[in-house]
Amino acid sequence: MQEQKEKVTAVYGNYINGEWQVKDDTFAVMNKYTGEEFARVSKASREDVNEAVTNALHTFRTKKLSPVQRYDILKRAAEIIQERKEELALIMVAEVGKVIKDARAEIDRGIQTLIASAEEAKRIAGQGVPLGQPGNDNKMAFTVRVPVGVIGAITPFNFPFNLTVHKVGPAIAAGNTVVLKPAEMTPIIALKLAEILAEAGLPAGFLNVVNGFGQETGQYLLEDDRIAMFTFTGSPGVGRHIKSTTGIRRVTLELGNNSPNIVHRDAPDLDKAAELCVTRGFSNAGQACISVQRVYVHRDVYEAFVERAVKTAQSIKVGDPTDPVSDVGPMISEKEAKRAEAWIQEALEQGAKVACGGKREGSVLYPTVMVDVTPEMKVVCQEVFAPVISIIPFDDIDAAFQQANDSRLGLQVGLFTSNLQLAMRAIHELEFGGVIINDVSTFRADVMPYGGVKDSGIGKEGPRWAVEEMTEERIVVISLT
Ligand code: SIN
Repeated sequence: MQEQKEKVTAVYGNYINGEWQVKDDTFAVMNKYTGEEFARVSKASREDVNEAVTNALHTFRTKKLSPVQRYDILKRAAEIIQERKEELALIMVAEVGKVIKDARAEIDRGIQTLIASAEEAKRIAGQGVPLGQPGNDNKMAFTVRVPVGVIGAITPFNFPFNLTVHKVGPAIAAGNTVVLKPAEMTPIIALKLAEILAEAGLPAGFLNVVNGFGQETGQYLLEDDRIAMFTFTGSPGVGRHIKSTTGIRRVTLELGNNSPNIVHRDAPDLDKAAELCVTRGFSNAGQACISVQRVYVHRDVYEAFVERAVKTAQSIKVGDPTDPVSDVGPMISEKEAKRAEAWIQEALEQGAKVACGGKREGSVLYPTVMVDVTPEMKVVCQEVFAPVISIIPFDDIDAAFQQANDSRLGLQVGLFTSNLQLAMRAIHELEFGGVIINDVSTFRADVMPYGGVKDSGIGKEGPRWAVEEMTEERIVVISLT
């Protein structure tokens, strides 16, 4: 008789004051491709969250790390991550459904984000302030930048490693302490980051991690006014809730986008533009805030562009995220894949056409290129957050700019043109946090400022800018007599 082996999955704890606290109350983290249980995670109660914040505040007030110590710890953590790269990438393959090549690329990005954060630790500086007003001759003034205190970090599922590093790295670099609440669908990689930072020498209390399923845990954090600042990446709806709950406390909110990309008839390389729009609209199964979504193409080159885009989309390998040849894996859940499929279906009923894709198998939505769409369709006017792009012809560049701006969202926009004057106009007229010329909206270097306007959020990420958000400029006046 074949032996029945019960599969035992790892149970992860909350990380509070340097200790892993495993609880009886746990929730499951599923493998997003196979649908099997991958791990279980302890759920933080209100008391656990309270303990985490108490420890973070106590640590902030009683322990200090010098800039060089912070640099050394973050730099060492980057080295450990490099050594454990494959193990970490495979965690994201399982809990996110990210294809292995994208998971490895995200670990590489996280290493760079951590190194850039480490470097910022040594660069934090105030400035001299001339007091050029009568009566101030015997005074001198300067500012110092001081850490804000306890930072509440709430992170998303789509880049659960690098976007966690984008919050924790600068927070530690700036001398703050952190209570982190990772995305409930993908918490394991964040717990590994906490483990690695501890191994790299981060003392107890500087980083605490509380896990939760549903909005309860985040709400406990929001209600705790000992947290000086929140840094959040996620949906505009939750961002609005955080803003309205946190009163006059600081927030950095990185919210959504329905990223437009404009391809003018003088695009320097039309084939390359089409390939970029397709590959960067479908990478990470379209689940990035800056994923290409709306592609406005000048009518003179529209047909050639669609043909090239469809050819590229059809060459994309969809399937098992562990397979090194896969380009696109599952979405985060079948529910999300069905939601995107319903939006496609609704657009079809309203007159749109699918040029390729449109098919769903479980949580896998095949890369979909839509044409004949109109501005009111959900696939155009809302954030689709799925591997779905729409290609829309335009006759007049002013109309293309106007359509790109005609959204409550404004994170990043792409424009392909050889005309320098048009590029200069775009820089001033397109209402976005980032204008990317001759590359797609999806472009992001981790060292650059990243953040949107309108409902796409407030504040900037990118270690240099995040350190600024996470420090207070304090004025010092010294009277010399
Ligand atoms: C996001 O979805 O906002 C992050 C995209 C990225 O870091 O590439």
